[in-house]
Amino acid sequence: MPVIALGTAADPFIESAMRAAILDAISQGYRQFDTAAMYGSEQVLGEAIAEALELGLLAYREQLFITSKLWCSDAHGDRVVLALKNSLSSKPGRHEYPTPKEELQPMDYKAVWAAMEDCQRLGLTKSIGVSNFSCKKLETIFSFATIPPSVNQVEMSPVWQQKKLIEFCKTHNVIVTAFSPLGAKVSNWGSNLVMDNEVLKEIAKEHGKTVAQVSLGWIIEQEATLAVKSYKKERLKENMEIFDWDLSKEDNEKISQIPQRRFMLKEDFVSPDGPFKSIEELWDGEL
Ligand SMILES: NC(=O)c1ccc[n+]([C@@H]2O[C@H](COP(=O)([O-])OP(=O)(O)OC[C@H]3O[C@@H](n4cnc5c(N)ncnc54)[C@H](OP(=O)(O)O)[C@@H]3O)[C@@H](O)[C@H]2O)c1
Repeated sequence: MPVIALGTAADPFIESAMRAAILDAISQGYRQFDTAAMYGSEQVLGEAIAEALELGLLAYREQLFITSKLWCSDAHGDRVVLALKNSLSSKPGRHEYPTPKEELQPMDYKAVWAAMEDCQRLGLTKSIGVSNFSCKKLETIFSFATIPPSVNQVEMSPVWQQKKLIEFCKTHNVIVTAFSPLGAKVSNWGSNLVMDNEVLKEIAKEHGKTVAQVSLGWIIEQEATLAVKSYKKERLKENMEIFDWDLSKEDNEKISQIPQRRFMLKEDFVSPDGPFKSIEELWDGEL
């Protein structure tokens, strides 16, 4: 699995800019792309890959690792395989966000995971994983999985370091992928906590790097993978230039002191009548 993915969730989502960014990213050596039925980016990603193959930017499709995600409304045992088939043919479905509170219902983890395993057995996907899972929710999957999740994609950055989850995933051979590694500053789901952090600015200055590079570099030093989004060619390049230098012990010490805050709380999934009645319950106390 390539360590860096280009993220394709964007706010605003500009199809032409996303297409150009995907082509630029392929030219620059990005080999992983992160999409989801929910993002509305599966079609443009499929088309841009076809274009890259035609242009000779790629020799063959198998050079790429594509991550897509099942949306909540398809997380039912009888809908998973069909949802993946729709993703693979870039056929748009109904993916409402936020989900109306009256439609929130408990997920049948066992049935959904069995259907995820079917997707792999049918050869529709090479690997299966989860996103936004706590240690407790992962334990639930491990209790019945015959194919354990290979990846858990979660919010992770120097301001939300996920220490407990990282250790847990290492012990269970689950790869962690960090999303919003720069804090998604200008997106409506984002925050300026990473890019405006004074400790990261200071470390960046000392190394002649940018805050983005320090944040991404710190993530790969935790042995996690990451998905980062940019429409801009020069930033795509900047975000890849993190492998030929290291943070010092002192830098890591300073980063470990940064006050921690999960900014993507996903409150929309909390409802007095739904399966999660509080933020604490939604995240199993990992706040
Ligand atoms: N599983 C989930 O629940 C979940 C949730 C959120 C995101 N994701 C995935 O993770 C991907 C990345 O997360 P994200 O898009 O939320 O946030 P992000 O990658 O942390 O931040 C993206 C923002 O940072 C800017 N940026 C990128 N590189 C930069 C640099 N070097 N210097 C300064 N600014 C820079 C981008 O602007 P420009 O485009 O203008 O450069 C964009 O506004 C998403 O695209 C999506 O694929 C998954």
